[in-house]
Amino acid sequence: MEDLLEQKRYFLKDYIRLETDFSNTDQNRGIAPPPVEKPLAAGSKKIMLPTLQELTNISQCSLISAITNRKSHRKYKPEPIDKQELAFLLWSTQGVRKNLKNVVLRTVPSAGNRHSFETYLYINNVKDLEEGIYRYLPVEHALAFEFTETSLREKISIAAMGQFFVGTAPVVFIWTTIPYRMEWRYSIAAHKVIAIDAGHVCQNLYLACEAIGAGTCAIAAYNQEMMDKFIRVDGKDEFVIYLASVGKV
Ligand SMILES: Cc1cc2nc3c(=O)[nH]c(=O)nc-3n(C[C@H](O)[C@H](O)[C@H](O)COP(=O)(O)O)c2cc1C
Repeated sequence: MEDLLEQKRYFLKDYIRLETDFSNTDQNRGIAPPPVEKPLAAGSKKIMLPTLQELTNISQCSLISAITNRKSHRKYKPEPIDKQELAFLLWSTQGVRKNLKNVVLRTVPSAGNRHSFETYLYINNVKDLEEGIYRYLPVEHALAFEFTETSLREKISIAAMGQFFVGTAPVVFIWTTIPYRMEWRYSIAAHKVIAIDAGHVCQNLYLACEAIGAGTCAIAAYNQEMMDKFIRVDGKDEFVIYLASVGKV
């Protein structure tokens, strides 16, 4: 057991940097970088979100009060989230703050600015949006409607290992990673920083929720295969890494 713990702790240390041949990464071999955002599937419906200019009055909450009051919420009011609020939460967690020619800078930091995440949403109760699975398109600041099917609420609760509050949330953020985006630059040293990146994203969600009278709960306990299937990702080149339920509190 001690050996196993030692082995697992190793992942948290930075020895991997010494073991990585950075001269041989795909970036340094001249391979073109992967797209910053997963392309919209052909025929997929795109829904534009309220712009940042339309969101400037969304909250009067001070940063100090958002930080002071932040806590995990697992009980939500039955009222819906509206599109402005949803747009604000998406922008806060993965939004683009500067789109330079070949570089997209976001509202959260990321190792090497590689941003390996995609944000899927299980929308259960958002004004003017039907129940279903959606994906955020940060560059366009829009939503892609992915699909809908029966019993999504029950399926997500079961995939979250029977944490039934997840199925009661008006919205669930489901973050996947496309690890190659990070591996392209860091090769075998990519994986610890992907996990660190995820923390920043969810912390911004906590604070942004506080700012608009909503609440969230981070969720890292889920059945990997079921959650990947739930949003229809392959589980190999893209898989779920973290979730967070959101609702008014
Ligand atoms: C990485 C991580 C994973 C978590 N996973 C779960 C989870 O699966 N289910 C849950 O109910 N809460 C989960 N939480 C929430 C924690 O239980 C919560 O943050 C902790 O109890 C402290 O409470 P506070 O957030 O209200 O300060 C998680 C939090 C983090 C940061």
